[in-house]
Amino acid sequence: MKIFRERKAFQQAMADLKRTGKRLALVPTMGFLHEGHLSLIREAHKHADAVAVSIFVNPIQFGPTEDLDKYPRDFERDVRLCEQEKADFIFAPAPEEMYDSNASTRIIEKSLSSGLCGALRPGHFEGVCTVVAKLFNLSGADVAVFGEKDAQQLRVIKRMVRDLDFPVEIIGSPLVRDTDGLALSSRNRYLSEEERKRALVLNQALFAAKQAISRGGLAVAGEVAEAAEFEIKQRCDKLDYLKVLDSDTLQPPDANSREIIILAAAYFGKTRLIDSIKVEL
Ligand code: PAF
Repeated sequence: MKIFRERKAFQQAMADLKRTGKRLALVPTMGFLHEGHLSLIREAHKHADAVAVSIFVNPIQFGPTEDLDKYPRDFERDVRLCEQEKADFIFAPAPEEMYDSNASTRIIEKSLSSGLCGALRPGHFEGVCTVVAKLFNLSGADVAVFGEKDAQQLRVIKRMVRDLDFPVEIIGSPLVRDTDGLALSSRNRYLSEEERKRALVLNQALFAAKQAISRGGLAVAGEVAEAAEFEIKQRCDKLDYLKVLDSDTLQPPDANSREIIILAAAYFGKTRLIDSIKVEL
């Protein structure tokens, strides 16, 4: 496995690889890898001859009061895990390597990113789109794998790829849960034991809502959302949102909706967690 720190060297090596006719998959991450990320690497192997994992805590997707400085990092452990999963390349640039000091270009998706986390974290998806576009350009990947856990992010990236004609196929890989049901996230490590117990309300409320909507259909979606919101509010420190939306448009579902998605974001202590679950109609 080869590790690149410089973007030009990474770009050159990936171009050389592509010239040999090999198919390349990219797995963009911010490191501190967990089983969810490893499942993305495994998925990537199914679609390509070689897999590159990027490890980069992207400063421009964090707001001024967010956890950029304390975002968990453990590069040596990440390298071991990538090796274990037989990744071929790691791209791990420093922020000043990734962005020129006078970089002044950003990519803004204006529809799917406007609600949910986008509304509460101004500039977040602009930062995500910009770094992901750079990673696509640097890697020249044929396929890129993202977690369905970040449901809004996955949809925003798919839209960006469509709108800007990036020649890359986007694969969404299923969310991975811990044995107790909590969605895996690098941020789970911030939770105290007591907060982690309370955080289980997220997946419990979402699963209950899914069951209720599977039984009662869209007609019950409003009351089910209210019940889930009530449940989560009992145990979290602050609920950012609980929404039942059309899975494609992230708008309120209607008679044309084929699948809906129930999404929640809430704080447990100072840790903001997100979770989501899809329901076929
Ligand atoms: O999902 C993440 O870890 C990040 O948002 C991503 C896609 C790697 C961009 O920094």
